[in-house]
Amino acid sequence: MQRSDFGDQFYWGVSTAAYQIEGAHATDGKGSSIWDEFVRKKGKIYQGQHADLSTDYYHRYHQDLLLMKMMHIPNYRFSLSWSRLFPNGTGTVNKKGVDFYNRVIDLCLELGIEPWITCYHWDLPAALQAKGGWTNRSILGWFEDYVSFCIQTFGDRVRHWMILNEPLVFCGAGYFLGLHAPGEKKFNSFLAAAHHATLCQASAARVAKSLNSQLQVGTTFSCAHVEPRTHRSRDREAAVKIDAVLNRLFIEPVLGLGYPVKDLSFLRRMEAYMHAGDEAQMAFEMDFIGIQPYTREIARYDLFTPFLQANIVKATKRQVPLTAMHWEVYPPAIYHLLKKFSNYPNMPPIMVTENGAAFEDVLEDGQVGDKLRRQYLENHIAEVLKAKAEGVNVQGYFVWSFTDNFEWAEGYRPRFGIVHVDFTTQKRTVKQSGQWYASFLQSCR
Ligand code: NOJ
Repeated sequence: MQRSDFGDQFYWGVSTAAYQIEGAHATDGKGSSIWDEFVRKKGKIYQGQHADLSTDYYHRYHQDLLLMKMMHIPNYRFSLSWSRLFPNGTGTVNKKGVDFYNRVIDLCLELGIEPWITCYHWDLPAALQAKGGWTNRSILGWFEDYVSFCIQTFGDRVRHWMILNEPLVFCGAGYFLGLHAPGEKKFNSFLAAAHHATLCQASAARVAKSLNSQLQVGTTFSCAHVEPRTHRSRDREAAVKIDAVLNRLFIEPVLGLGYPVKDLSFLRRMEAYMHAGDEAQMAFEMDFIGIQPYTREIARYDLFTPFLQANIVKATKRQVPLTAMHWEVYPPAIYHLLKKFSNYPNMPPIMVTENGAAFEDVLEDGQVGDKLRRQYLENHIAEVLKAKAEGVNVQGYFVWSFTDNFEWAEGYRPRFGIVHVDFTTQKRTVKQSGQWYASFLQSCR
Protein backbone atom coordinates (compact mmCIF):
# COMPACT_ATOMS: atom_id res chain seq x y z
CA MET A 1 0.00 0.00 0.00
CA GLN A 2 1.27 3.44 -0.81
CA ARG A 3 -0.02 6.95 -0.85
CA SER A 4 -0.58 6.97 -4.60
CA ASP A 5 -3.18 4.18 -4.23
CA PHE A 6 -5.49 6.87 -2.83
CA GLY A 7 -5.03 9.25 -5.75
CA ASP A 8 -3.83 12.86 -5.83
CA GLN A 9 -6.95 14.40 -4.40
CA PHE A 10 -6.90 12.61 -1.05
CA TYR A 11 -6.36 14.78 2.05
CA TRP A 12 -3.78 13.37 4.47
CA GLY A 13 -3.28 15.02 7.80
CA VAL A 14 -3.07 15.06 11.56
CA SER A 15 -5.56 16.43 14.11
CA THR A 16 -5.29 18.23 17.43
CA ALA A 17 -7.57 20.29 19.69
CA ALA A 18 -6.93 23.57 21.50
CA TYR A 19 -7.45 22.57 25.11
CA GLN A 20 -5.51 19.35 24.71
CA ILE A 21 -2.28 21.01 23.53
CA GLU A 22 -2.16 24.79 23.87
CA GLY A 23 -1.55 25.34 27.57
CA ALA A 24 -1.31 29.11 28.27
CA HIS A 25 -4.69 28.73 29.93
CA ALA A 26 -4.71 32.24 31.36
CA THR A 27 -2.12 33.92 29.15
CA ASP A 28 -2.55 37.03 27.00
CA GLY A 29 -6.13 37.69 28.03
CA LYS A 30 -7.58 34.23 27.52
CA GLY A 31 -10.81 33.70 29.47
CA SER A 32 -11.63 30.61 31.45
CA SER A 33 -13.31 27.67 29.74
CA ILE A 34 -15.41 24.90 31.24
CA TRP A 35 -12.36 22.63 31.03
CA ASP A 36 -10.18 25.13 32.92
CA GLU A 37 -12.78 24.91 35.68
CA PHE A 38 -13.57 21.20 35.48
CA VAL A 39 -9.94 20.11 35.90
CA ARG A 40 -9.88 21.98 39.21
CA LYS A 41 -12.70 19.91 40.67
CA LYS A 42 -11.61 17.09 42.94
CA GLY A 43 -11.58 13.56 41.58
CA LYS A 44 -12.57 14.39 38.02
CA ILE A 45 -9.27 13.90 36.19
CA TYR A 46 -6.73 11.09 36.44
CA GLN A 47 -4.26 12.02 39.20
CA GLY A 48 -5.74 15.53 39.38
CA GLN A 49 -3.97 16.53 36.15
CA HIS A 50 -4.87 19.57 34.06
CA ALA A 51 -3.84 21.21 30.79
CA ASP A 52 -2.67 24.59 32.14
CA LEU A 53 0.61 23.92 30.33
CA SER A 54 0.10 20.64 28.44
CA THR A 55 2.43 20.59 25.39
CA ASP A 56 2.87 24.38 25.65
CA TYR A 57 1.92 24.59 21.99
CA TYR A 58 0.90 28.23 22.50
CA HIS A 59 4.60 29.02 22.78
CA ARG A 60 5.97 26.12 20.73
CA TYR A 61 3.66 25.95 17.70
CA HIS A 62 6.51 27.17 15.52
CA GLN A 63 8.69 24.19 16.34
CA ASP A 64 5.72 21.79 16.07
CA LEU A 65 4.72 23.06 12.64
CA LEU A 66 8.30 22.80 11.42
CA LEU A 67 8.33 19.19 12.59
CA MET A 68 5.02 18.60 10.80
CA LYS A 69 6.58 19.97 7.66
CA MET A 70 9.60 17.69 8.06
CA MET A 71 7.20 14.77 8.34
CA HIS A 72 5.61 15.71 5.00
CA ILE A 73 2.18 16.20 6.58
CA PRO A 74 0.14 18.29 4.13
CA ASN A 75 -3.02 19.05 6.17
CA TYR A 76 -3.38 20.08 9.78
CA ARG A 77 -6.70 20.05 11.64
CA PHE A 78 -6.80 22.07 14.87
CA SER A 79 -9.45 23.86 16.89
CA LEU A 80 -9.90 27.43 18.05
CA SER A 81 -10.31 28.14 21.73
CA TRP A 82 -13.52 30.18 21.98
CA SER A 83 -12.47 31.74 25.30
CA ARG A 84 -9.08 32.74 23.87
CA LEU A 85 -10.92 34.74 21.22
CA PHE A 86 -13.82 35.89 23.41
CA PRO A 87 -12.85 35.72 27.09
CA ASN A 88 -16.51 36.07 28.08
CA GLY A 89 -17.91 34.05 25.20
CA THR A 90 -19.59 37.09 23.66
CA GLY A 91 -18.76 40.79 23.39
CA THR A 92 -15.18 41.99 23.50
CA VAL A 93 -12.64 40.25 21.29
CA ASN A 94 -9.24 39.35 22.70
CA LYS A 95 -6.88 40.70 20.06
CA LYS A 96 -3.95 38.67 21.33
CA GLY A 97 -5.96 35.49 20.81
CA VAL A 98 -6.72 36.54 17.24
CA ASP A 99 -3.02 37.30 16.70
CA PHE A 100 -2.07 33.85 17.93
CA TYR A 101 -4.31 32.00 15.47
CA ASN A 102 -3.22 34.36 12.69
CA ARG A 103 0.38 33.43 13.41
CA VAL A 104 -0.45 29.72 13.38
CA ILE A 105 -2.42 29.95 10.12
CA ASP A 106 0.18 32.10 8.40
CA LEU A 107 3.00 29.81 9.40
CA CYS A 108 1.05 26.78 8.13
CA LEU A 109 0.59 28.47 4.78
CA GLU A 110 4.21 29.56 4.64
CA LEU A 111 5.25 25.94 5.22
CA GLY A 112 2.81 24.59 2.64
CA ILE A 113 0.57 22.96 5.26
CA GLU A 114 -3.14 23.47 4.74
CA PRO A 115 -4.92 24.49 7.95
CA TRP A 116 -8.33 22.92 8.72
CA ILE A 117 -10.26 24.52 11.55
CA THR A 118 -12.68 23.03 14.07
CA CYS A 119 -14.73 25.84 15.60
CA TYR A 120 -15.72 23.97 18.73
CA HIS A 121 -13.76 21.17 20.35
CA TRP A 122 -15.43 21.10 23.79
CA ASP A 123 -13.94 24.15 25.57
CA LEU A 124 -16.98 26.35 26.09
CA PRO A 125 -16.26 29.73 27.71
CA ALA A 126 -17.04 29.39 31.42
CA ALA A 127 -19.01 32.65 31.29
CA LEU A 128 -21.50 30.98 28.96
CA GLN A 129 -21.75 27.87 31.13
CA ALA A 130 -22.72 30.19 33.97
CA LYS A 131 -25.80 30.92 31.88
CA GLY A 132 -26.54 27.24 31.29
CA GLY A 133 -24.10 26.58 28.44
CA TRP A 134 -25.43 24.15 25.86
CA THR A 135 -28.67 23.71 27.81
CA ASN A 136 -29.61 27.36 27.17
CA ARG A 137 -31.21 27.96 23.79
CA SER A 138 -29.43 31.32 23.62
CA ILE A 139 -26.36 29.28 22.65
CA LEU A 140 -27.70 29.46 19.10
CA GLY A 141 -27.05 33.18 18.95
CA TRP A 142 -23.79 33.05 20.94
CA PHE A 143 -22.45 30.29 18.73
CA GLU A 144 -23.54 31.86 15.42
CA ASP A 145 -21.83 35.11 16.40
CA TYR A 146 -18.66 33.27 17.39
CA VAL A 147 -18.51 31.19 14.21
CA SER A 148 -19.28 34.16 12.02
CA PHE A 149 -16.42 36.07 13.65
CA CYS A 150 -14.06 33.13 13.01
CA ILE A 151 -15.07 32.88 9.36
CA GLN A 152 -14.73 36.63 8.83
CA THR A 153 -11.35 36.71 10.55
CA PHE A 154 -9.68 33.54 9.27
CA GLY A 155 -11.82 32.45 6.32
CA ASP A 156 -9.67 34.39 3.85
CA ARG A 157 -6.89 31.83 4.40
CA VAL A 158 -8.62 28.72 5.72
CA ARG A 159 -10.77 26.80 3.29
CA HIS A 160 -11.89 23.76 5.33
CA TRP A 161 -14.05 24.28 8.39
CA MET A 162 -15.63 21.89 10.86
CA ILE A 163 -18.37 23.32 13.04
CA LEU A 164 -18.51 20.88 15.97
CA ASN A 165 -16.33 18.07 17.23
CA GLU A 166 -18.25 14.99 18.38
CA PRO A 167 -21.48 16.46 19.80
CA LEU A 168 -22.48 13.11 21.30
CA VAL A 169 -19.39 13.13 23.49
CA PHE A 170 -19.55 16.69 24.76
CA CYS A 171 -23.31 16.46 25.39
CA GLY A 172 -23.29 12.88 26.70
CA ALA A 173 -20.13 12.88 28.80
CA GLY A 174 -20.56 16.55 29.75
CA TYR A 175 -24.24 16.84 30.62
CA PHE A 176 -25.43 13.29 31.35
CA LEU A 177 -22.55 11.14 32.58
CA GLY A 178 -20.71 13.95 34.37
CA LEU A 179 -17.36 12.59 33.14
CA HIS A 180 -16.41 15.65 31.10
CA ALA A 181 -16.90 19.37 31.59
CA PRO A 182 -19.17 20.85 32.78
CA GLY A 183 -19.81 17.66 34.78
CA GLU A 184 -23.60 17.64 34.86
CA LYS A 185 -25.51 14.43 35.40
CA LYS A 186 -29.02 15.24 34.28
CA PHE A 187 -30.85 13.47 31.54
CA ASN A 188 -32.88 16.56 30.73
CA SER A 189 -29.73 18.65 30.48
CA PHE A 190 -28.38 16.11 28.01
CA LEU A 191 -31.53 16.31 25.88
CA ALA A 192 -31.52 20.10 25.87
CA ALA A 193 -27.79 20.28 25.10
CA ALA A 194 -28.12 17.66 22.36
CA HIS A 195 -30.96 19.52 20.66
CA HIS A 196 -29.16 22.85 20.81
CA ALA A 197 -25.94 21.30 19.49
CA THR A 198 -27.93 19.77 16.64
CA LEU A 199 -29.42 23.15 15.78
CA CYS A 200 -26.04 24.86 16.12
CA GLN A 201 -24.18 22.49 13.83
CA ALA A 202 -26.60 23.32 11.03
CA SER A 203 -27.16 27.00 11.75
CA ALA A 204 -23.49 27.86 12.13
CA ALA A 205 -22.67 25.97 8.92
CA ARG A 206 -25.39 27.99 7.19
CA VAL A 207 -23.86 31.21 8.49
CA ALA A 208 -20.37 30.15 7.39
CA LYS A 209 -21.51 29.36 3.86
CA SER A 210 -23.55 32.54 3.60
CA LEU A 211 -20.46 34.56 4.50
CA ASN A 212 -18.25 32.74 2.02
CA SER A 213 -19.69 30.21 -0.39
CA GLN A 214 -16.17 29.15 -1.47
CA LEU A 215 -15.50 27.49 1.88
CA GLN A 216 -15.78 23.76 2.45
CA VAL A 217 -17.89 23.42 5.55
CA GLY A 218 -18.49 20.22 7.47
CA THR A 219 -18.81 18.91 11.00
CA THR A 220 -17.50 15.82 12.80
CA PHE A 221 -19.04 12.84 14.59
CA SER A 222 -17.83 10.16 16.95
CA CYS A 223 -18.77 6.66 15.85
CA ALA A 224 -18.15 2.98 16.62
CA HIS A 225 -18.93 -0.18 14.71
CA VAL A 226 -21.62 -2.01 16.69
CA GLU A 227 -22.33 -5.74 16.66
CA PRO A 228 -24.75 -7.77 18.82
CA ARG A 229 -23.20 -10.12 21.39
CA THR A 230 -25.27 -13.06 20.13
CA HIS A 231 -27.76 -13.57 17.34
CA ARG A 232 -30.64 -13.70 19.79
CA SER A 233 -33.26 -11.15 18.90
CA ARG A 234 -32.94 -9.29 22.20
CA ASP A 235 -29.20 -8.72 21.62
CA ARG A 236 -29.86 -7.69 18.04
CA GLU A 237 -32.44 -5.16 19.20
CA ALA A 238 -29.93 -3.93 21.75
CA ALA A 239 -27.38 -3.45 18.97
CA VAL A 240 -29.87 -1.38 16.97
CA LYS A 241 -30.37 0.92 19.96
CA ILE A 242 -26.69 1.26 20.81
CA ASP A 243 -25.98 1.96 17.15
CA ALA A 244 -28.70 4.62 17.09
CA VAL A 245 -27.12 6.36 20.09
CA LEU A 246 -23.49 6.08 18.99
CA ASN A 247 -23.85 6.54 15.24
CA ARG A 248 -27.18 8.08 14.26
CA LEU A 249 -28.42 10.56 16.85
CA PHE A 250 -26.52 13.59 15.59
CA ILE A 251 -25.89 12.79 11.94
CA GLU A 252 -29.44 11.93 10.89
CA PRO A 253 -30.93 15.33 11.74
CA VAL A 254 -28.29 17.11 9.67
CA LEU A 255 -29.01 14.79 6.75
CA GLY A 256 -32.67 15.80 6.97
CA LEU A 257 -33.87 12.54 8.52
CA GLY A 258 -34.81 13.93 11.93
CA TYR A 259 -33.94 12.22 15.21
CA PRO A 260 -33.95 8.39 15.24
CA VAL A 261 -37.03 8.37 17.50
CA LYS A 262 -38.32 5.10 16.09
CA ASP A 263 -35.38 3.21 17.54
CA LEU A 264 -34.86 5.43 20.58
CA SER A 265 -38.20 6.12 22.21
CA PHE A 266 -36.61 8.28 24.94
CA LEU A 267 -35.98 10.90 22.26
CA ARG A 268 -39.68 11.79 22.43
CA ARG A 269 -38.73 13.74 25.52
CA MET A 270 -36.65 15.97 23.26
CA GLU A 271 -39.91 17.58 22.13
CA ALA A 272 -39.91 19.58 25.34
CA TYR A 273 -36.98 21.55 23.89
CA MET A 274 -38.14 21.76 20.30
CA HIS A 275 -39.77 24.83 18.79
CA ALA A 276 -41.93 24.97 15.69
CA GLY A 277 -39.74 24.78 12.60
CA ASP A 278 -36.71 23.27 14.39
CA GLU A 279 -36.91 20.03 12.44
CA ALA A 280 -36.26 21.85 9.15
CA GLN A 281 -33.55 24.02 10.74
CA MET A 282 -31.60 20.93 11.88
CA ALA A 283 -30.88 19.91 8.29
CA PHE A 284 -28.06 21.34 6.23
CA GLU A 285 -26.21 20.22 3.14
CA MET A 286 -22.67 19.96 4.45
CA ASP A 287 -19.77 19.94 1.99
CA PHE A 288 -18.30 17.01 3.90
CA ILE A 289 -18.91 14.92 6.99
CA GLY A 290 -16.07 14.06 9.35
CA ILE A 291 -16.20 10.68 11.05
CA GLN A 292 -13.91 9.61 13.90
CA PRO A 293 -13.83 5.81 14.10
CA TYR A 294 -11.60 4.15 16.67
CA THR A 295 -13.11 0.80 17.60
CA ARG A 296 -15.88 -1.79 17.68
CA GLU A 297 -18.50 -2.16 20.42
CA ILE A 298 -20.44 -5.31 21.29
CA ALA A 299 -24.04 -4.71 22.42
CA ARG A 300 -26.20 -6.86 24.63
CA TYR A 301 -29.70 -6.80 26.09
CA ASP A 302 -29.75 -5.44 29.64
CA LEU A 303 -33.01 -5.01 31.48
CA PHE A 304 -31.40 -2.76 34.08
CA THR A 305 -30.08 -0.02 31.82
CA PRO A 306 -32.58 2.82 32.01
CA PHE A 307 -34.09 4.17 28.77
CA LEU A 308 -32.32 1.63 26.57
CA GLN A 309 -32.44 -1.85 28.09
CA ALA A 310 -29.22 -2.26 26.17
CA ASN A 311 -25.60 -2.10 27.19
CA ILE A 312 -22.06 -2.43 25.93
CA VAL A 313 -19.90 -5.44 26.79
CA LYS A 314 -16.59 -3.97 27.90
CA ALA A 315 -13.71 -4.81 25.58
CA THR A 316 -11.65 -5.73 28.67
CA LYS A 317 -14.06 -8.66 29.18
CA ARG A 318 -13.75 -9.94 25.61
CA GLN A 319 -10.17 -11.24 25.32
CA VAL A 320 -9.36 -8.93 22.43
CA PRO A 321 -6.31 -6.75 21.73
CA LEU A 322 -6.69 -3.44 23.56
CA THR A 323 -5.32 0.08 23.42
CA ALA A 324 -4.38 2.03 26.56
CA MET A 325 -7.95 3.41 26.49
CA HIS A 326 -9.20 -0.19 26.82
CA TRP A 327 -10.69 0.07 23.36
CA GLU A 328 -10.58 -2.99 21.12
CA VAL A 329 -8.11 -2.86 18.23
CA TYR A 330 -10.30 -3.92 15.32
CA PRO A 331 -9.31 -2.39 11.97
CA PRO A 332 -12.37 -3.62 10.00
CA ALA A 333 -14.49 -1.28 12.16
CA ILE A 334 -13.39 1.71 10.12
CA TYR A 335 -14.32 -0.11 6.89
CA HIS A 336 -17.80 -1.04 8.17
CA LEU A 337 -18.42 2.51 9.36
CA LEU A 338 -17.36 4.03 6.05
CA LYS A 339 -19.71 1.65 4.26
CA LYS A 340 -22.51 2.35 6.71
CA PHE A 341 -22.33 6.13 6.45
CA SER A 342 -21.89 6.10 2.70
CA ASN A 343 -25.20 4.24 2.45
CA TYR A 344 -27.21 7.27 3.51
CA PRO A 345 -28.88 8.93 0.56
CA ASN A 346 -27.38 12.40 -0.02
CA MET A 347 -24.34 11.63 2.06
CA PRO A 348 -21.69 14.24 1.28
CA PRO A 349 -18.03 13.18 0.88
CA ILE A 350 -16.62 11.63 4.04
CA MET A 351 -13.37 12.61 5.74
CA VAL A 352 -11.88 10.48 8.51
CA THR A 353 -11.10 13.52 10.64
CA GLU A 354 -9.61 11.38 13.44
CA ASN A 355 -8.24 7.87 13.83
CA GLY A 356 -5.44 6.63 16.03
CA ALA A 357 -4.54 4.78 19.20
CA ALA A 358 -3.03 5.18 22.65
CA PHE A 359 -0.43 2.65 23.77
CA GLU A 360 2.06 2.42 26.62
CA ASP A 361 5.00 4.07 24.87
CA VAL A 362 8.53 3.76 26.14
CA LEU A 363 11.16 6.35 25.33
CA GLU A 364 14.47 4.50 25.24
CA ASP A 365 17.78 5.84 23.92
CA GLY A 366 15.93 8.73 22.33
CA GLN A 367 13.52 6.44 20.44
CA VAL A 368 9.93 5.27 20.79
CA GLY A 369 9.44 1.91 19.10
CA ASP A 370 5.64 2.05 19.04
CA LYS A 371 5.15 -0.88 16.73
CA LEU A 372 1.54 -1.37 17.81
CA ARG A 373 0.58 2.17 16.83
CA ARG A 374 2.35 1.87 13.51
CA GLN A 375 0.43 -1.36 12.81
CA TYR A 376 -2.81 0.22 13.97
CA LEU A 377 -2.39 3.11 11.54
CA GLU A 378 -1.25 0.94 8.67
CA ASN A 379 -4.09 -1.56 9.11
CA HIS A 380 -6.73 1.15 9.45
CA ILE A 381 -5.48 3.02 6.42
CA ALA A 382 -5.63 -0.25 4.47
CA GLU A 383 -9.29 -0.62 5.47
CA VAL A 384 -9.98 2.91 4.28
CA LEU A 385 -8.46 1.98 0.95
CA LYS A 386 -10.64 -1.12 0.77
CA ALA A 387 -13.78 0.95 1.34
CA LYS A 388 -12.63 3.52 -1.19
CA ALA A 389 -11.94 0.83 -3.78
CA GLU A 390 -15.51 -0.39 -3.26
CA GLY A 391 -16.86 3.02 -4.14
CA VAL A 392 -17.14 4.81 -0.79
CA ASN A 393 -16.60 8.52 -1.31
CA VAL A 394 -13.95 8.98 1.38
CA GLN A 395 -11.65 11.88 0.66
CA GLY A 396 -9.36 12.28 3.63
CA TYR A 397 -7.67 10.69 6.62
CA PHE A 398 -6.28 12.50 9.68
CA VAL A 399 -4.28 10.81 12.44
CA TRP A 400 -5.26 11.54 16.01
CA SER A 401 -2.97 12.95 17.14
CA PHE A 402 0.14 14.83 16.10
CA THR A 403 1.75 15.01 19.55
CA ASP A 404 0.91 13.32 22.82
CA ASN A 405 -1.51 15.53 24.71
CA PHE A 406 -4.07 15.88 27.49
CA GLU A 407 -6.63 13.13 27.01
CA TRP A 408 -9.49 14.81 28.94
CA ALA A 409 -10.57 12.88 32.07
CA GLU A 410 -7.78 10.35 31.43
CA GLY A 411 -5.09 13.01 31.78
CA TYR A 412 -1.67 12.42 30.22
CA ARG A 413 -1.59 8.64 30.71
CA PRO A 414 -2.94 7.65 27.28
CA ARG A 415 -0.49 8.85 24.66
CA PHE A 416 -2.08 9.23 21.24
CA GLY A 417 0.72 11.10 19.48
CA ILE A 418 2.85 10.02 16.56
CA VAL A 419 5.29 12.45 18.17
CA HIS A 420 6.28 11.78 21.78
CA VAL A 421 6.25 14.65 24.28
CA ASP A 422 8.31 14.58 27.44
CA PHE A 423 6.02 16.67 29.64
CA THR A 424 8.87 17.65 31.96
CA THR A 425 11.28 18.97 29.35
CA GLN A 426 8.77 19.51 26.49
CA LYS A 427 11.14 17.64 24.20
CA ARG A 428 9.51 16.21 21.08
CA THR A 429 10.61 12.82 19.65
CA VAL A 430 9.12 11.42 16.47
CA LYS A 431 7.90 7.91 17.27
CA GLN A 432 8.35 4.95 14.95
CA SER A 433 4.70 5.42 13.91
CA GLY A 434 5.48 9.03 13.01
CA GLN A 435 8.46 7.94 10.95
CA TRP A 436 6.27 5.37 9.21
CA TYR A 437 3.55 7.97 8.47
CA ALA A 438 6.19 10.39 7.18
CA SER A 439 7.65 7.83 4.81
CA PHE A 440 4.17 6.72 3.73
CA LEU A 441 3.33 10.34 2.91
CA GLN A 442 6.55 10.71 1.04
CA SER A 443 6.20 7.46 -0.89
CA CYS A 444 5.87 7.87 -4.64
CA ARG A 445 2.73 9.87 -5.43
C1 NOJ B 1 -12.03 12.11 20.03
C2 NOJ B 1 -11.83 13.52 20.45
O1 NOJ B 1 -12.23 14.40 19.44
C3 NOJ B 1 -10.42 13.83 20.92
O2 NOJ B 1 -10.45 15.04 21.60
C4 NOJ B 1 -9.90 12.68 21.75
O3 NOJ B 1 -8.67 13.00 22.33
C5 NOJ B 1 -9.79 11.47 20.89
N1 NOJ B 1 -11.08 11.13 20.34
C6 NOJ B 1 -9.25 10.24 21.61
O4 NOJ B 1 -10.10 9.89 22.64
